[in-house]
Amino acid sequence: MKKVSFAEFGGPEVLRLIDAEEPHAGPGQVRIAVRAAGVNPVDWRIREGQILQAHPIDLPSGVGLDASGVVDEVGEGVEGVAVGDHVFGEGASTYAEFAVLSAWARMPEGLTFEEAAGYPSVVETALRLIREIGLRAGQTLLVSGASGGVGSAVLQIARERGITVIGTAGAANQDYLRGLGALATTYGEGWVERVRRLGQVDGALDLAGSGVIRELVELTGDPRKVISIADLDAPQLGVRFSGVAGSVPDALAEAADLISRGRLHIPVEQSYTLAEAAAAHTDSRAGHTRGRRVVIV
Ligand SMILES: NC(=O)c1ccc[n+]([C@@H]2O[C@H](COP(=O)([O-])OP(=O)(O)OC[C@H]3O[C@@H](n4cnc5c(N)ncnc54)[C@H](OP(=O)(O)O)[C@@H]3O)[C@@H](O)[C@H]2O)c1
Repeated sequence: MKKVSFAEFGGPEVLRLIDAEEPHAGPGQVRIAVRAAGVNPVDWRIREGQILQAHPIDLPSGVGLDASGVVDEVGEGVEGVAVGDHVFGEGASTYAEFAVLSAWARMPEGLTFEEAAGYPSVVETALRLIREIGLRAGQTLLVSGASGGVGSAVLQIARERGITVIGTAGAANQDYLRGLGALATTYGEGWVERVRRLGQVDGALDLAGSGVIRELVELTGDPRKVISIADLDAPQLGVRFSGVAGSVPDALAEAADLISRGRLHIPVEQSYTLAEAAAAHTDSRAGHTRGRRVVIV
């Protein structure tokens, strides 16, 4: 089968499209014929060797955690899914023609494979953050970096729970944030004052890692009301860094319910072929993805 792989850490040029042995489903796993793989910032962070403690890997390594596709092998002990089912979920080396998933759910009706590949990590992260920040209906959440994959999911899930959201994003994404039900403003010079004018903030999420932890603490009045997923220095300012994934099957089930009720939609900004994986990484790393980028297999 064809698979994207890298044999040394480095820039996008280390990615190669190679012929590889097909993987097989072990106990508790399924194998899918991959139709699409989600492109997450963690994919290029791993390729660059940035986060080896959290994601230890042996080289050469495949790329990708998220995928959608058609089940073609069911591992020992797995129930409730059959060959031929359309699923989306998380696994390993998903930029490939076949991949093994360790967590999955059936794709909701009407969702394309291309769209479905963009959800798994993003919805797990969004649901975890909303759980950890612990706001109630009627309270206000500030989201810094609200137009990317995680932000798009946080905005819609928070709205569903009656939480008001103020989101920051670039000028080109202001209408996008409003379309997801948030109050919107731009980041950059004067942004703290612009947020203040939009309302009092009860909790804040740093999704962009753009060095705004002090300001988020200032706006909420308490470091315990701020969580970052992107700034490793956050704990030095008393702010939690959230990095331990919650239950992916639970997140996918909740996402599938929201998607089928028309309450959650993560747009695909751009699709790439397997041979274009390096371009997908370059574009994701530029840091201005709206929704998700996807590799089509
Ligand atoms: N710790 C964890 O468990 C965990 C889990 C998932 C992701 N992450 C990390 O969280 C980050 C976000 O992930 P993602 O998938 O949502 O990324 P993404 O889809 O690439 O989105 C990045 C977003 O950041 C915004 N942005 C860029 N510069 C900004 C700035 N100066 N201020 C505010 N926003 C800015 C962009 O908005 P504009 O395009 O509008 O400029 C873009 O929408 C990544 O660093 C990722 O590695 C961590």
